[in-house]
Amino acid sequence: MRLLAIGDVCGSIGCDEVRRVLPELKRKKNIDMVIINGENSADGNGILPVSAESLFAGGADVITGGNHSLRRRQIYDYLDEKEFVLRPHNLSDAVSGKGYCLVDLGSTSVAVINLVGKMYFEKLKPSCPFKTADLLIEKAKNDGARIIIVDFHAEATSEKRALGLYLDGRISAFFGTHTHVQTSDEQILKNGTGYITDLGMTGPLNSVLGVKSEIIINRLKDGDMSKFELAEGRCCLCGCIFDIDSAAGKTRGIERVFIK
Ligand SMILES: [Fe+2]
Ligand SMILES: [Fe+2]
Repeated sequence: MRLLAIGDVCGSIGCDEVRRVLPELKRKKNIDMVIINGENSADGNGILPVSAESLFAGGADVITGGNHSLRRRQIYDYLDEKEFVLRPHNLSDAVSGKGYCLVDLGSTSVAVINLVGKMYFEKLKPSCPFKTADLLIEKAKNDGARIIIVDFHAEATSEKRALGLYLDGRISAFFGTHTHVQTSDEQILKNGTGYITDLGMTGPLNSVLGVKSEIIINRLKDGDMSKFELAEGRCCLCGCIFDIDSAAGKTRGIERVFIK
């Protein structure tokens, strides 16, 4: 089973890039399943039904989330209704949605788990991602999933690395999201879990993490608190392909994707 995971999509410009690039990429790389992190897919941050639908139209099978998943109220009912739109499962105060789903691919079933880190996310009051992962892996096994995938949305590389190693051998693939900066540390861990610390982002190249650079520069340099606006222009699409042995539930090949 060949899985393509795509990093944080920024606004409608990022959604457009997914729709432009993904169909051919799927064909070329023989992709069976696509997971896209959509926590920033709405213009003005967060995720909205319209941005999620745009990602599904572009080829997503599952949309994962992060610290911005519950920013827009208009998504709450949608999160409850849509089986394959996730938000981090360990958001203790979350009013709607879940961070687990099971995808039936016919020949095999795939469990997708979405978690958020604790470091720098204290305001979200997340429960322990390690213990939540343990519980959800147990659930996935009881549900008969041969393949288990984790999207860990976190700031600190150390926390991501630690959770990846903690889960090595018990899940098929682990990828980090949130920083919008791709890491070049993709590897197959000792016990067969495919791993990358961060997928990177899908959005405007000439930006600070997707936002107009002058806004961020003025904020950091002069304390100017002008509202964030998405940058424009040429986009990149970042992600990672995991070639997974369905019977063993382990990764046998891994390829980083950075299209610009
Ligand atoms: Fe993001
Ligand atoms: Fe985030």
